Amino acid sequence: MDYQQLIEEVYREVQAENLKGKVADYIPEIATVDPNQFGIALVDLKGNLYGVGDYLTPFSIQSISKVHTLTMVFHRFNSKLWSRVNVEPSGNPFNSIAQLEYENGIPRNPFINAGALVITDALCSKFENPLEQISAFINEIAGCDCVRINQAVMNSEKNNAARNTALAYFLKSYNNFENSIEEVLDVYFSHCAMEMSCVELAKTFSFLANDGYSIYANREILSESHARRVNALMLTCGFYDEAGEFAYKVGLPGKSGVGGGVAAVMPHKFSIAVWSPELNEKGNSVKSIRALELLTDKLAFSLF
Ligand code: DON
Repeated sequence: MDYQQLIEEVYREVQAENLKGKVADYIPEIATVDPNQFGIALVDLKGNLYGVGDYLTPFSIQSISKVHTLTMVFHRFNSKLWSRVNVEPSGNPFNSIAQLEYENGIPRNPFINAGALVITDALCSKFENPLEQISAFINEIAGCDCVRINQAVMNSEKNNAARNTALAYFLKSYNNFENSIEEVLDVYFSHCAMEMSCVELAKTFSFLANDGYSIYANREILSESHARRVNALMLTCGFYDEAGEFAYKVGLPGKSGVGGGVAAVMPHKFSIAVWSPELNEKGNSVKSIRALELLTDKLAFSLF
């Protein structure tokens, strides 16, 4: 399979469709990006890199970072942590609060904001300087010094934090929050404000395509069985209330972010990151999803 030719073909076809969406504006700093950017990077398990379009331009990875933070606590699967967050699709928007009350302060999964806040809270309990640990971990699994936190994006989200602050207080009211709300939110907004290019992001997902082993870090990041579970969570919960549609159209485990990025893996073959800032009404990138749909159609295989 000539991956370079494949992604170039996908890129051209998506561009010709002239799809439109809306850049996220609830984090004002994110709304300042050029909406016409579009890039794809694919990394195979030997470390060969393929890229097209704006694949070297850094962008705000936002919720995609929830996969990295989840990975950092996954070895505690079956421990107390997994009584604090479930592994079910929510069928609700990423920042929904309603379900949290019906379900007694236990978020449906680690990718909706409430669940990701519990994971970040767990990291704050575990590490004295969680943000440094998150950055070091991501640099290690990508084999580069690629973590940059965009402070303007971080501040912009912090200044528009009513919803996430409400979620954190709500979790605390159910005793499902161990640390200071301000500290955890600061770490959460900072890891969401990390910037990476498509190539860097695809590298950070490589271990998930490789049974948990990172060719960049030269070590097992997750056991094979835990890597399968993170992939299962991405497939069922990675796109919030659009997870079914993404599985139906694309058929790969993937995670989106409101910066317009999507990272996905084809187990035992490659990891891929696509980025284009314009989003659909569910908060997921219009062009990125379409590109991955075309990609698995052309490959004629997915998970299924
Ligand atoms: O907490 C938030 O709302 C953002 N920092 C991240 C949301 C996000 O990326 C949702 N994904 N599509």
